[in-house]
Amino acid sequence: MIIFGALFLACSSFVRVASAQSVFAHFMAQNSYSYAVSDWTNDMTAAQAIGIDGFALNIALADYEVSKMADAFTAAEALGFKLFYSFDMSYSWAQSDMVSLVVNHATSPSAFLWDGKVLVSTYSGESLGDSFWSSFKSTLASQGVNIILAPAFTSYRDPSDANGLLSTFPSIDGFFNWWSWPADTNTLMTTDTDLAYQSAISSRTGPYIMSVSPWQFKNIDGSGDWVELSDTLWNYRWQQAVNDVKPDIVEIVTWNDYGESHYISDINPNVNLGSQAPFYVDGFVHSNWRDVARYYISYFKKGTVPTITKDEVVFWYRAYPKNIVCSTGTLPRNSNFPADAVFALAMLTSPATVQLSIGSNTVNMSAPAGLTMGSVDFPKEDHQIPYVALYRNGALVADIHGSKYVDQTGCTYYNFNPFVAALTT
Ligand SMILES: *[C@@H]1O[C@H](CO)[C@@H](O)[C@H](O)[C@H]1NC(C)=O
Repeated sequence: MIIFGALFLACSSFVRVASAQSVFAHFMAQNSYSYAVSDWTNDMTAAQAIGIDGFALNIALADYEVSKMADAFTAAEALGFKLFYSFDMSYSWAQSDMVSLVVNHATSPSAFLWDGKVLVSTYSGESLGDSFWSSFKSTLASQGVNIILAPAFTSYRDPSDANGLLSTFPSIDGFFNWWSWPADTNTLMTTDTDLAYQSAISSRTGPYIMSVSPWQFKNIDGSGDWVELSDTLWNYRWQQAVNDVKPDIVEIVTWNDYGESHYISDINPNVNLGSQAPFYVDGFVHSNWRDVARYYISYFKKGTVPTITKDEVVFWYRAYPKNIVCSTGTLPRNSNFPADAVFALAMLTSPATVQLSIGSNTVNMSAPAGLTMGSVDFPKEDHQIPYVALYRNGALVADIHGSKYVDQTGCTYYNFNPFVAALTT
């Protein structure tokens, strides 16, 4: 009986390993140029604190980034943190460099395995064709490393192309849907793409990886200037993940892509952000978005609504209304999509009134226990700062002002990246 029981346990835990729901964050290795092992350790510790299992290492170049990977694995191994490569195929990779990188770290205890094989992902790479990917896999196999390939072939977004993906790419085992923002539309995104590709790839052995992102705004000459409707994305996209899609893996896009404004890490002052991103990143902290992630990561992994033990209201807002004329930078594509408002996500232990105010505008929302999304429109008055207060039974529990003003004049650079703060208790 005991032997039978142990065998049964071993088998069932093997099945769970193959299908365990994990959460990774997309990490831009480009930003590790000045990293010491301690910078990796700090990032990984902050990620682990909210339940993130590991980083998908977006590696773009076979130079300094490759040497930084040794540090990343050193830090990860000490923390029991997981890593897998997400080759950024918008850069020209020699296949042999990719192979050696995977081989170098394949036996690390921090290499993330799917079905006992090393998971490898990408950003793009479909233009290389299946022959490239099949030879990548067979070369690795000939060196004793079996992989599960789950790429983000970004031109596959239309749900009707999902079956074509499989017939065009016999070599892929899983799929990473990069798209986690509305596609240049002023409407909320749906799960149509997720469900179509999740269903298609279920005939293969690899994971369906769903991206979940808080924001999208970029304003860099020659590299893009756009904003996507992201006002409430960080709440409803997670709900899609936990309620509707339930993917094998959630990949948060991103941990540290400052230039596209979807970072949830602290802003590391050692990272060189180039000449323009600092105009819209410096001072625009996002750290409290991790508090939202912590809730939903627990929800995703356990499959049950988490118990909130401490009241919190996370809020975010842009520093300028969308119609303001700025002296430099470019008015981004889709600039009319975002609402001129302060957005707040109340995470409450029990019902309360949440006051959202800015200038002459106030919204009092009557919020139940759990999560409630609200907003208050920017006021007419110039140079106003948001105020958030929590009342219960008529008594003030806690309040806070934002620490960045919303200005109607004096804009020096087009900036649609929000400032994130939180009322905590
Ligand atoms: C909002 O609630 C606060 C606290 O109860 C109250 O002082 C304020 O008058 C209310 N404002 C509006 C516009 O309802």
